[in-house]
Amino acid sequence: MNDHHNQHPKTFNKGKANQVNAVNGIDLTIADEEFLVIVGSNGSGKTTLLNLISGSILPTSGTITIDNDDVTKLADYQRSKWIARVFQNPINGTASELSILDNFRLAAIRTKAKGLSIGINDAFKSAVKEKIATLGLGLENKIEQPMGTLSGGQRQALTLLMSVMDDCKILLLDEPTAALDPRSAEIVMRTADKLSADFKLTTILVTHNLKDAYNFGTRIIQMSEGVIIKDIDTAQKQKLKQNDLFEWFG
Ligand SMILES: Nc1ncnc2c1ncn2[C@@H]1O[C@H](COP(=O)(O)OP(=O)(O)OP(=O)(O)O)[C@@H](O)[C@H]1O
Ligand SMILES: [Mg+2]
Repeated sequence: MNDHHNQHPKTFNKGKANQVNAVNGIDLTIADEEFLVIVGSNGSGKTTLLNLISGSILPTSGTITIDNDDVTKLADYQRSKWIARVFQNPINGTASELSILDNFRLAAIRTKAKGLSIGINDAFKSAVKEKIATLGLGLENKIEQPMGTLSGGQRQALTLLMSVMDDCKILLLDEPTAALDPRSAEIVMRTADKLSADFKLTTILVTHNLKDAYNFGTRIIQMSEGVIIKDIDTAQKQKLKQNDLFEWFG
């Protein structure tokens, strides 16, 4: 169970003329293994909410709890044992000049990745190949290739895999497909969905793509001006038609 309770969570430039209540009066509880999709117009507070959860910014007031641990005052690196995060641009997650294998080696050193010990070279290599094969993208045959030679979608899929291999519980995805062409975007969304299920993660996806909001996830919230204005639970989401979503959001 992952709980995030926020009262008046984030005010920027407090007391100044340019004060922004980026996230305001949000009280949100996200269940274990839930896949929450967040939609909302530009500047509605979606990224700020993710930043509050990850610890990239600290709340002005209110508390953030993961399971029964109050993490409100913990910095992002202290929360990283629970939380993996993937950003918009696939370039950010990995080193272009290094091979896929070496990128996984770095990830393993950084995170003490689950089920991957870097001791013996051949063992590590076959463990990486095996993990990559589960994505079903054929990338296990390209592990000696530099990361930079892959498509944005392939790269983002590997970034996702690397980030969840650690023993994390929560996966934060902030518009992970925004920089990708439609085909790559689909690869990444399918990969995110599969990894979320395989690793039994609690997943939060921010997206402007209503089709993805419809096709993926178990719950949708809509944000506007720092507050949640709609919350569609699993039962409601299952009954929802794609047109309803477009109408409701448009
Ligand atoms: N560091 C900051 N300092 C001042 N204002 C900020 C800061 N970060 C965000 N804001 C403001 O807070 C509000 C919410 O921003 P946020 O990035 O959370 O929106 P968003 O919903 O993610 O938008 P988008 O869909 O464009 O990514 C905006 O008005 C933004 O300008
Ligand atoms: Mg944003």
